[in-house]
Amino acid sequence: EQAEIGLIGLGVMGANLSLNIAEKGNRIAVFNRTYAATEQFMKDAGELADRIIPCKTIEEFVAAIRPPRPIIIMIKAGDPVDQQMELLKPHLEKNDIMIDAGNANFRDTIRRFDSLKDSGLTFIGMGVSGGEEGARHGPSIMVGGTEESWKRVEPVLTSIAAKFNGEPCVDWLGNDGAGHFVKTIHNGIEYADMQMIAEIYGILRDGLNMSAVEIADVFAKWNKGRLNSYLIEITEKVLRAKDPISGRPMVDMIVDKAGQKGTGKWSAIEAQNMGVPATGIEAAVAARSLSSFKDQREAAEKILGLPASGDHGNVDRDKLIDDLEQALLAGKIGAYAQGFAVMAEASKEFGWSLPMPTIAKIWRAGCIIRSQFLDEITSAFTKDPDVANLIVTPAFADMVKDTDGALRRVISFAALGGMPVPALASALGYFDAYRRGRGTANLIQAQRDFFGAHGFDRTDGADKHHGPWGSGLADF
Ligand code: 6PG
Repeated sequence: EQAEIGLIGLGVMGANLSLNIAEKGNRIAVFNRTYAATEQFMKDAGELADRIIPCKTIEEFVAAIRPPRPIIIMIKAGDPVDQQMELLKPHLEKNDIMIDAGNANFRDTIRRFDSLKDSGLTFIGMGVSGGEEGARHGPSIMVGGTEESWKRVEPVLTSIAAKFNGEPCVDWLGNDGAGHFVKTIHNGIEYADMQMIAEIYGILRDGLNMSAVEIADVFAKWNKGRLNSYLIEITEKVLRAKDPISGRPMVDMIVDKAGQKGTGKWSAIEAQNMGVPATGIEAAVAARSLSSFKDQREAAEKILGLPASGDHGNVDRDKLIDDLEQALLAGKIGAYAQGFAVMAEASKEFGWSLPMPTIAKIWRAGCIIRSQFLDEITSAFTKDPDVANLIVTPAFADMVKDTDGALRRVISFAALGGMPVPALASALGYFDAYRRGRGTANLIQAQRDFFGAHGFDRTDGADKHHGPWGSGLADF
C-alpha cells in the first residue's frame, strides 16, 4: 500500500511531524540524507513503524508515495531548501507537490512557487507552529498554495493539526506565500507578546523587588483569567524552575541577551514596506537587538546610572499587580490589532484574500501564541470580517476602554523608575494616535512644504497647497 504523504528531513521537527502523521492513521514515506538517522528514527517509532516506509534512496521514496505526491521538506530554511528541491525535481511527475514546512521567508516561497510553474509541479508554503511538542501532538498549520494542492493534503493535515473545541487548527489561507506570510506575522506577534511579558516581569522584579517564585505565583493567577495562554503558562513554569547547578532560580542564571532567527524582523520590515504600523513588533525586535549589547549596557549603567527609584516604597503593591494584568491585556490588544492590520494590507498587496476570522481560529490551539484571547478575536472578526481595525470592534473597543487607565499607570510607574517598557508604551502610543481625530501631522506637512515645497491639503478644501513661507530656507 502506498503512502499518503512523504517527508524529507528527520531532524526533531521532521521526526515529530512524521510520528504525528503516522499516529493519526496515515501511511508516510520518510527520507533522510543520512540513512543512519532514518534507521534510528524507525527504532524510536515503536508500533507506529508499521505505517512508516523508510527509504534509502530518493527513487525508492518517490515510488512509495501515492500520486499526486505531497512531499514535506522539513530542513533548515534558506539555500538547503532550494538544493533539496533541485535534487527532488527530476524524480517527480506532473501535479506532485513540494511542501516547505520550515520558517521560510514568504518572498522565497513566492519565488519557489513560481519557479515550479512551468514544470507542472506545484509548491505549498506551510507555516507550522507549536515547537517540537506541537509537531508531535498537534501543531497549528498555515497553508499557502493552489486550492487544488490544498485539497490533496487537507485530510492528512486536518488529522494531525491541533483541535480547538474539536475544530482543526489548519486551513488554506491563499496562494503561494500566504501561509508563510501568516506564519511570519504569527512570529512577529509572538515576539511582541514575549517582550511585553518580559517588561511586566521587569516591573515585578525591579519595581516591586519580587523573587522569581513570587512572580511565578502572579503569572499562575493571571493564567486563570483573561490572560490565559500558553506563553503565560510557560512563563510561570520557567520562573519556578531551579538551576540544578547553583540551586537558584534558573531564570536568574540566564544571560539577558535574546537571540532571534529573523521572522520577527521580517514582520517589521514587511509592515514598514506596506506603510502599516506594527510598533509592538518593532519594539520587540529592537529590544532583542539592544539586549545583545550587554557590554555597552553595563558600561552605560556605570556612566549614566539608574534613575532614583521614584516612589516605589509607597506604591500599593496589590493595586499595581492588578494594573499590570490589565496593562498586559491592553498591550496584547495593540500588538494583535497591528498584526491583523498588516495581514489585511498584505492580503490586498499580494492578492491573497486572507481570511481574518480563519487565521484567528487556527491560532487558538497548537501554536505558540495560542490563547483564550484568540477566541475573542475570532468572534470579533467573525461578526465583522472587514472591520478596519480590531480595536474598533465593539468587544475590543470596550476592552481598550477598560484597560486604558491601567496601561497609563503602569507606563508612568515604569517611566519614573527607569524600567524600559518599549512594547507596552508602543501600544499606548498607537491607541492614542489611532483614536484621535485631529493629530499633529498638519505641522509636519507645513514643515515639509516649508523646506521642500511638498504641498499640503487644506482643511477648508480650498485649492491652495503651499504656505506663505517666502522662499523657505533661503530667507534665513
Ligand atoms: C513556533 C515558533 C517557532 C520558533 C521560531 C522563533 O511558532 O513554533 O515561532 O517557529 O520558535 O523559530 O524563533 P526566534 O525567536 O529564534 O526568532
